[in-house]
Amino acid sequence: MEINNFFSLSFFLLLLLGVVESFYYHEKELETEDGFRGMYDRWRDHHNIEQKSDEKFNVFAYNVKRIHESNKMDKPYKLKVNKFADMSNHEFVNMYTDSRIGHLQATVPGHPHINVDPFKDFIYQNVTDVPESIDWRTKNAVTDIKGQGGCGSCWAFAAVVAVEGIHAIRTGKLERFSEQQLVDCDLLGHNKGCDGGLMEPAFLYIIEHGGLATEASYPYVGKRETCDKSKIGKDVATLDNRQNVPPNDEEMLKKAVAFQPVATNIHLSGHGLQFYSEGVYTGDCGTEPNHGVALVGYGVNPEGIKYWTVKNSWGPGWGEKGYINVQRGVRREGLCGIAMHSSVPIKYDPKAPKGDPNAPPDNFVPKDPNAPVKDDPNAPKECPSTPKDPKLRTTQRMQGIRTKLLEL
Ligand SMILES: *[C@@H]1O[C@H](CO)[C@@H](O)[C@H](O)[C@H]1NC(C)=O
Repeated sequence: MEINNFFSLSFFLLLLLGVVESFYYHEKELETEDGFRGMYDRWRDHHNIEQKSDEKFNVFAYNVKRIHESNKMDKPYKLKVNKFADMSNHEFVNMYTDSRIGHLQATVPGHPHINVDPFKDFIYQNVTDVPESIDWRTKNAVTDIKGQGGCGSCWAFAAVVAVEGIHAIRTGKLERFSEQQLVDCDLLGHNKGCDGGLMEPAFLYIIEHGGLATEASYPYVGKRETCDKSKIGKDVATLDNRQNVPPNDEEMLKKAVAFQPVATNIHLSGHGLQFYSEGVYTGDCGTEPNHGVALVGYGVNPEGIKYWTVKNSWGPGWGEKGYINVQRGVRREGLCGIAMHSSVPIKYDPKAPKGDPNAPPDNFVPKDPNAPVKDDPNAPKECPSTPKDPKLRTTQRMQGIRTKLLEL
């Protein structure tokens, strides 16, 4: 069995006990080379990392110093010595930024599978009354953090957060739905299983193929397998429509998140993001989105800094128990390009009064789930969030498994 190749029993027990949460160090360890060496060994032990070299050690020591210095400053966010601590930022960025998301999204509007003018008549565009903050996690609309493992399926995870959200809001039932079905079965062209994809076409797949199975009936295995239609039962999440959020407009994005969790792409790189631990991230990052995530809320911290709450799919060990708060209201594209490419799955509320953004439009005809869908030649080759480093694959795979174990 594959799992046995990866983990010793003892490590498995550690995972079960949740001991792999955080790595702590003493300031004294930073005073001498011996201190750093001891810390390096402890850190490798902690993350079960066998690989060791002087080069790695130097990177580790450099990172730890920077993390420590950053944490001593009065920044609204804190960093931590996490599992990426022996990777240079260059290495980290290379691993995560060979993205074609930006390029792909740029070609999307003319694409036959995407609404012809995706930014016209956005359902929430005329809404004026939105709350100053919202957190869908406190409204029974967000499932526990998941881990994508060593598979570039961030797009599937991001899409599923949004689907789980609107399903919970409409039905009152919070259920976990299947990323694996999207990885295996969504062959819509843009979407390539573990080699990357986009969220809006994933919503379209769900609309046109009768819905999305629960995670229990179509569980995640972290690699692409043959689509198994027998796993797609009656208990599915269905959607009526989907839309892109008008881009480069954080106010419009706020309106959308006020109504439901929203799938988006962000640029995830930089020293700060590599080691982000908690608080509102205000640091540097680019505007070339390279990773699919979901917005599950927004708010203002006690110091008055506005933020988005982002659900990631790297397990609960990264960031703030798997989440990151990214500063809001910085620039049109959003910090880290968070407002550039967002989309929502639409599930109309038949009970909503006419004029309500969620009321079915007059001309609404439910989609035929068996309608044929043509394939698309403009497909991404790679999901940027795919960790290529075998060590990372292992770590992330472990996180995925750990997430599952903790739920048993
Ligand atoms: C928003 O208002 C404009 C102007 O009244 C109207 O043309 C548009 O259709 C409305 N959009 C939606 C989604 O209701």
